[in-house]
Amino acid sequence: MQRPLRGLMVGVGYFAPIQLAAWRAVSGAEIRGLVGHRDRARVGAVARDAGVGWAGIDLAAAIDAVRPDFLDICTPPATHGDLIRYAVTRGLPVLCQKPLAATVAEAAELAELAHRHGVPLVVNENWRWQPWYRETKKLIDAGVVGQPFHTTMRMRPGDGWGEHPYPDQPYFADMPRLVLFETGVHYIDTTRFLFGEIDKVQCTTATVNPAVAGEDLVVAVLHTSRGGIVVYDADRSAVARTVRSLAYGTMSVEGTEATLEVADDGTMTVLRRDGQVLRHAYRMPDGWKGGCAIAAQQNFVDALRGGAEAETPATDYVRTMQVVEACYQSAALGRAVRIRADRAAGVPEPAGERLP
Ligand SMILES: NC(=O)c1ccc[n+]([C@@H]2O[C@H](COP(=O)([O-])OP(=O)(O)OC[C@H]3O[C@@H](n4cnc5c(N)ncnc54)[C@H](O)[C@@H]3O)[C@@H](O)[C@H]2O)c1
Repeated sequence: MQRPLRGLMVGVGYFAPIQLAAWRAVSGAEIRGLVGHRDRARVGAVARDAGVGWAGIDLAAAIDAVRPDFLDICTPPATHGDLIRYAVTRGLPVLCQKPLAATVAEAAELAELAHRHGVPLVVNENWRWQPWYRETKKLIDAGVVGQPFHTTMRMRPGDGWGEHPYPDQPYFADMPRLVLFETGVHYIDTTRFLFGEIDKVQCTTATVNPAVAGEDLVVAVLHTSRGGIVVYDADRSAVARTVRSLAYGTMSVEGTEATLEVADDGTMTVLRRDGQVLRHAYRMPDGWKGGCAIAAQQNFVDALRGGAEAETPATDYVRTMQVVEACYQSAALGRAVRIRADRAAGVPEPAGERLP
């Protein structure tokens, strides 16, 4: 039997304990060390709670002590680049939280660097692993919906109002780019997973809560190369039925044969053209948001072990970030923006191209 892969994780903020809990349910790997930034007490406490043996604030010392097989990065996007360069140039595979980098150009540079060094660099994009999206994909592939032509993803977490919004992630309030960059990137990746490539966007943004710097309202119309339209309708300041509900909002996939509805608790219903309304029952795995963090991290480990293909390699994820950038451009220009096709090397062009 192969020994479990040794992981070293960086970052001990809001998401780290969720990610560490997920690692405990992943087979074939374990986190052996945890690296923080300045706050030794916090690193020690998070490591203790998660049963991680090594804790500290010096990455080089952690690598010497743990001799990891991979680095797991869970720090703010602006810090991803330096950490990835450090690991990749030492031949250390990386799983890195979304968004991959602060800009599309940097994401493309990092993807290319990893590619050149032959080192796996995978984005920890867990949203597409939420079970209601996996079920949606199965139902589409089985032909239940027919040709999906119009999807609405209505994101309503209800956590962005008041003078102190986003209690779990208060740093959101100061981000100059908020919903599209931080959360919309999940929905764009999930759109690509469900419906294929996005090649044109038309987007409007607004800031509703005066206490936040960036946009907290986004309506983006995403055109897929298969001819479908996906409307990402996101509003973080609006009142929500359930604050930060399991599915963060609702989704409807309208197809030629049926409409598929996902409620904010993950419940799925199929409305067929013949009038039948069927509840689609499925297993909800344990863990954060239907086990999606476990599934994403498991996919990375399986890929490292050669038993699967990584679903969100950096080379492909650049395209997701490029669509995010195109949405910002569209909102600024007040018109549609087309996204250029991939370059031969597999790393897409970093900039969107305006429509005439
Ligand atoms: N997948 C999801 O659903 C999900 C949810 C929340 C956050 N995230 C992502 O996870 C990442 C972290 O988010 P968060 O909410 O935990 O942020 P956070 O600000 O709460 O925590 C960031 C942590 O990184 C540490 N840090 C900063 N710079 C560092 C450096 N150079 N070296 C080592 N440690 C450093 C900070 O001290 C802190 O412990 C972000 O990329 C975010 O987008 C993903």
